[in-house]
Amino acid sequence: MLGRPYLALCALPRAGRIVGRLFSNPLSQHAVRRRSGPYGYTQAKALVFSQNGEPSDVLKLHTHSISPSLSSKAVLLRALAAPINPADINTVQGTYGSQPSFTSLIGTSTPSAIPGNEGVFEVLATGDPSSPVRKGDWVIPAVAQFGTWRTHAVADVDEIIKINKEGLKATQAATISINPGTAYRILRTYGPNAGISKALGMRPLEVGSGQWFIQNGANSGVGRAAIQFGKLWGLRSINVIRERSSPEATEELKKELTGLGADAVVTETQFLSREWKDQLAEITNKGREQIGLGLNCVGGKSATALARSLGEGATMVSYGGMARQPVALPVGLLIFKDIRFVGFWLSRWNQQDPTGRRHMTDYIVDSIREGKFQDVPLDEVAWNWETEASTLTEEVQKGLQGFRKGKGIFVFGDT
Ligand SMILES: NC(=O)c1ccc[n+]([C@@H]2O[C@H](COP(=O)([O-])OP(=O)(O)OC[C@H]3O[C@@H](n4cnc5c(N)ncnc54)[C@H](OP(=O)(O)O)[C@@H]3O)[C@@H](O)[C@H]2O)c1
Repeated sequence: MLGRPYLALCALPRAGRIVGRLFSNPLSQHAVRRRSGPYGYTQAKALVFSQNGEPSDVLKLHTHSISPSLSSKAVLLRALAAPINPADINTVQGTYGSQPSFTSLIGTSTPSAIPGNEGVFEVLATGDPSSPVRKGDWVIPAVAQFGTWRTHAVADVDEIIKINKEGLKATQAATISINPGTAYRILRTYGPNAGISKALGMRPLEVGSGQWFIQNGANSGVGRAAIQFGKLWGLRSINVIRERSSPEATEELKKELTGLGADAVVTETQFLSREWKDQLAEITNKGREQIGLGLNCVGGKSATALARSLGEGATMVSYGGMARQPVALPVGLLIFKDIRFVGFWLSRWNQQDPTGRRHMTDYIVDSIREGKFQDVPLDEVAWNWETEASTLTEEVQKGLQGFRKGKGIFVFGDT
């Protein structure tokens, strides 16, 4: 998004001389140099793309300057951390549900967009002294396609949400919105049909009931969040993972998810086998306990098996398509088991329910602070002023690879 906030940006070539000012870096707690050009212009860098394609082909690192004069609603931000989510890569590839606008407002030679939907920034300056945010506050984007893969940004105060940073690491704050938000909204909203008298609407799984849900992609950011919320809210989960490179590594991952609160963790091979029906019955008290909700992150055969595992009147919510395979559904599941299939997109939810989003964000932040919610394993990528463009773009390109040890995340240091 290179929209209104950039009216305060002045696209200048990077000034030759860098004047450093000391300021405190909340990540390292060490004093680092803030780069500013002559006349107080902030020197900034952003990953940009001007056409869709593979990230390693189309992403460029662009240097520009930000004017010190801010309009009354504008806020100058410095990035602290920003994850590389699958949706960000799909946005660059042009396969995502929405596209940022392409503009030349930061002085790119061709109209470009900055990818990155999620991240945390520190407020450096505000255009108005009575602004609801102050220097030193931490904020996250309130709008989709904010463009977080950049060292600095100027945003309208309405486009950010202040978070209580106390006790939070920047990497935690940077990853609270999208994956935990998706798991939270799905578990709070979707569930089995509420009966003909309720026009076949849905009722979410009941808190404290021990009702089951099942999910594939269980070790993803969303999957791990669903396991933890499920546990916190008294629900039970069956979790499908892909085998690791050795049985020991698979066991290790199962243990990790069980430690987060998973009730059952099964491998995809087991899940796709003929024996799964009997194994599922064993888990669910000889099949007497029905599964009311399925969360589909993967698609393809895994999604079909997920649908077959559901009880009568259950709902399957597709929120991801990691296998890049369509979802094929036996028609009998629709007719005889009355299973409903819906899709979920967090961006739409956030747009339609900003108040609910704020409550959700507070809940997630509080849960992390209270030690009730663990962040995903991360693969930190340091982004300093001197970091080469190729280092950053290669990390983005890796983002869609399977079997990763952790989610890629840019951690901004001396920028
Ligand atoms: N609809 C929404 O609003 C919304 C919101 C958030 C996320 N999402 C979507 O949810 C999905 C997961 O996102 P995330 O950020 O949670 O993921 P993530 O933490 O980056 O993890 C990726 C997951 O995908 C699995 N995976 C990768 N390639 C796969 C393949 N070919 N077949 C099966 N599984 C594969 C990985 O399993 P391994 O470890 O076995 O490789 C891992 O569980 C993405 O499709 C994302 O776009 C949607």
